[in-house]
Amino acid sequence: MPSKQDKTPSKSGCMSRRAFLFRSSAVVGGTVVLTHIPGMEGEALAAEIARYPRMLIGKLSQLKVDKPVAFNYPDKGANSQSLLVKLSAEAGGGISPKHNVVAFNSLCTHMGGLMGATYKPADQVLGPCPLHQSTFDLTRHGMVVSGHATESLPQVLLELDGDKIYAVGMLGLIYGRHDNLKS
Ligand code: FES
Repeated sequence: MPSKQDKTPSKSGCMSRRAFLFRSSAVVGGTVVLTHIPGMEGEALAAEIARYPRMLIGKLSQLKVDKPVAFNYPDKGANSQSLLVKLSAEAGGGISPKHNVVAFNSLCTHMGGLMGATYKPADQVLGPCPLHQSTFDLTRHGMVVSGHATESLPQVLLELDGDKIYAVGMLGLIYGRHDNLKS
């Protein structure tokens, strides 16, 4: 069972469903999580955070740059398909000494197009989505670059414990779910 969800409603009323305040030091207590957010230090970032029991999803030493690894999180549901990827550049929420290891749910936030095989190393994006061509920037918390989608890709929160990479939560709403707590 997932642990409780951490929500702080937006004050402006104009933010999306990801509209929750988070700062790198306040996301998850404990070890390494979202400790480096390029260009956003000291600023608020719109985000919706759900915490789940941590799950081992890989080892840092076994990841190769630009070679995504598929896994499911936070459960085995069809829409929990996700990708762990070591980028060639640092990324928001990235772990590892270079802050370049990130993970995202791989369902398009527009209408659920499966984008697991669409990673483009040259631009470090996921997409274009096979349904309506949306593309998402993996260096910027899955932000929409182009296409019909209006919501960023849900980012899997990661922890690094020695060489082991753990998923510990979700940043954003998974397509097809109302609250990330049910399949
Ligand atoms: S489902 Fe991906 S752009 Fe429409």
